[in-house]
Amino acid sequence: MAVDVILGLQWGDEGKGKIVDYLAEKYDLVCRFQGGPNAGHTIKIDGKKYVLHTIPSGIFREEITNVIGNGVVLDPITMVKEMNALHDANIDFMPRLLVSRKAHLIVPTHRYLDAASEASKGASKIGSTLKGIGPAYMDKTGRNGLRVGDLTSSDFEAKYKSIKEKHLGLLKMYPDVDFNLEEQETHFFESIEKLKQLRFVNSEYYVNNALAEGKQILAEGAQGSMLDIDFGTYPFVTSSNTISAGVCSGLGIAPNKIREVIGIAKAYCTRVGSGPFPTELEDETGEKLRKVGMEFGATTGRPRRCGWLDVPQLLYTIMLNGVTQVIITKMDVLDTFETIQVAKSYHYDNMESNELPFDIVDKKIDPVYQSYEGWYESLDNVRSFQDLPTKAKDYVKHLEQLLKTRISMISTGPEREKLFGQ
Ligand code: GDP
Ligand code: IMO
Ligand code: MG
Repeated sequence: MAVDVILGLQWGDEGKGKIVDYLAEKYDLVCRFQGGPNAGHTIKIDGKKYVLHTIPSGIFREEITNVIGNGVVLDPITMVKEMNALHDANIDFMPRLLVSRKAHLIVPTHRYLDAASEASKGASKIGSTLKGIGPAYMDKTGRNGLRVGDLTSSDFEAKYKSIKEKHLGLLKMYPDVDFNLEEQETHFFESIEKLKQLRFVNSEYYVNNALAEGKQILAEGAQGSMLDIDFGTYPFVTSSNTISAGVCSGLGIAPNKIREVIGIAKAYCTRVGSGPFPTELEDETGEKLRKVGMEFGATTGRPRRCGWLDVPQLLYTIMLNGVTQVIITKMDVLDTFETIQVAKSYHYDNMESNELPFDIVDKKIDPVYQSYEGWYESLDNVRSFQDLPTKAKDYVKHLEQLLKTRISMISTGPEREKLFGQ
């Protein structure tokens, strides 16, 4: 009876979905604790690719219950699209998918507010996924939000109308954004009827009862720690706590129930959207990482910015999350690089430091790189740590020393079988 956590240590898209799907079979419950349809978690099973946005990545394991926790913001429209995609793929998930009554709802006008806010920022825009995440969390903390539990109350339509009117008033302050509210509202109310076929639960009781019965829980993070509202590269962040602390508030789980914190990091770095990225490569090498790694957003299709692995950044997020083990994904993407670089520290203000400065957005940071000779061969057929080329093994061992944390697994491809322990 314990909770293990899987979360991203960089700027998102570390391959969390694949790892959750793989490890889920050891657990009874997989629970999402924050974020919403801004997430895109890709899972490849038997040659078929699935992208999940709000539904937890344990959904492909028949014995596992999946819970959307209170910390999540849920858009009925995107949620029903996801449900339909799973139906079409003949996945029987309805009885295994539970939704917290305390999860907040994203309504169509949240998306318009997101678009309007971004448009008003011009060049300094966040690069939001425009899924309405920021405005929905603003209504939550502003104590105006609508929750999943409200859907079954008799005055839901009145509550909806009141929040919509408030949003329409706010939208007048912004530059015009194009929207067809009537059409989206029809879609929204139709989606709600479908959503109501799912089981709504008091998830804080559900997960704690499960723990009391000796069940094992895997908490699935979305985004990455560098996008955390408090500790990320503010203001270029998302609007939730993506770090392990978010598990407690996003599921109602006490801190002493958390056992392993499994941090996922790519063998290099990516970021989608605006904001600081000290090791970004705006050259051919960055282009090559993007091409080989197929670095295009799972939610928006945008090209991801690419750069080398960043040790000060990882030490920071390992610290914040209390990471007990790291899993390195996308090692195979480095197969064709003769030289691999890793930023082992930063240089700024005439000093070398491992600390991320407060003014990371404006400060000029020069990463201090360490070079490694690449293994320069395909990892496609490698199925165990022992079978890795010596240079790849050395690279992993070296990283372990730099990160002062155990690297428990390596992923060498999108498929389930391309993952092995050390
Ligand atoms: P998430 O948001 O953290 O779940 O990650 P995404 O799904 O947005 O992005 C990760 C991408 O990398 C997906 O397309 C995965 O299928 C793919 N992927 C995951 N692990 C590996 C790996 O080890 N190697 C390669 N080449 N691709 C991987
Ligand atoms: P997963 O779970 C990568 C980024 C957006 C933008 C910023 C704010 O797939 O790793 P938001 O829509 O939350 O207001 O956007 O955060 N972002 C992500 N980047 N992976 C994600 O999720 C992301 N979710 C949000 O690009 O820069
Ligand atoms: Mg993603």
